[in-house]
Amino acid sequence: MKEELQKLRAESLAAIQQAENSEALEALRVKYLGKKGELTAVLKQMGTLSAENRPVMGKLANEVREELAEALETGRKKLNDRALEFRLAAEAVDVTVPGGFVPVGKQHPLTKVIDEAKEIFIGMGFAVAEGPEVELSEYNFTRLNTQEGHPARDRQDTFYFDNKDSVCLRTQTSPVQVRVMETQPLPIRIISPGRVYRKDEVDATHSPMFHQIEGLVVDEGITMGDLKGTLNALVHRLYGEDTHTRFRPHHFPFTEPSCEVDVECFECHGKGCRVCKGEGWIELLGAGMVHPKVLEGCGIDSDRYSGFAFGVGAERLAMFRFGISDMRLLFENDIRFLEQF
Ligand code: PHE
Repeated sequence: MKEELQKLRAESLAAIQQAENSEALEALRVKYLGKKGELTAVLKQMGTLSAENRPVMGKLANEVREELAEALETGRKKLNDRALEFRLAAEAVDVTVPGGFVPVGKQHPLTKVIDEAKEIFIGMGFAVAEGPEVELSEYNFTRLNTQEGHPARDRQDTFYFDNKDSVCLRTQTSPVQVRVMETQPLPIRIISPGRVYRKDEVDATHSPMFHQIEGLVVDEGITMGDLKGTLNALVHRLYGEDTHTRFRPHHFPFTEPSCEVDVECFECHGKGCRVCKGEGWIELLGAGMVHPKVLEGCGIDSDRYSGFAFGVGAERLAMFRFGISDMRLLFENDIRFLEQF
């Protein structure tokens, strides 16, 4: 029995020494010290020993058990320490390593000019209004004095949603004028930036989706002079105090009189060049005095009140502002392009 115990001791201690992880250690504990373990099996034979041998063997067996228990505990501590060391090494941060590159996003050039325009108009006392992109033809056309049969309502030009052509993607931000006049108290001073849609082929200056900024002022005694002053202020803020503008007669169904506003070519300053196609001027926006019919249609007394409105293309503003020659660049989302602004 003595040899058996000594063999068990040597064997188990060696095994414990080599255990690689806590599961292995636990398996060894069960193997040697468990209820059905090997040491227990040896102890069960105690009864067969002689009276003088029994205490000697009992003592030895107890020593072996204590030694094993101790070795198991030491092994467990060693494995824990090692695991901790491992984790510390793995999670170590070297604060002296130079930081990685974190790309920072930028505003799209369109968002930039729209924000700029908003700021300019808010500074002049305007509020920002919004309207739906999916609009009733009633608001997009009829209430803007553009009756059925008008060429702008043609299916070739407008994205309709139904057979009766009663719902469409708005072709302009002007329907917001009607929505605001219907619901807001006078006087009105708003701008309304947003997306508009037309069945245009994509080229350097056209896109089926683009952005406009609508403007509307209605009050007593509003004149064409107010319109000119306001738009000149916009152009001067955007392109510099010495930029000239030109107001040309034009036609829009919902303004009377109507005009288009040109700015002096930012490239040649009026001499005529490739950018302005020899004109010296570049068309910027459409505008006019709100047609009395439109005012009356919104329940506004056109004898007492008058107003002006304008609609400017945001892509145009951005292209002039940043010298961008092709509108498609604004929608391709090529980071190499967008990074430049
Ligand atoms: N909505 C017109 C367009 O898209 C522009 C405009 C707005 C003209 C307001 C006059 C007044 O062409």
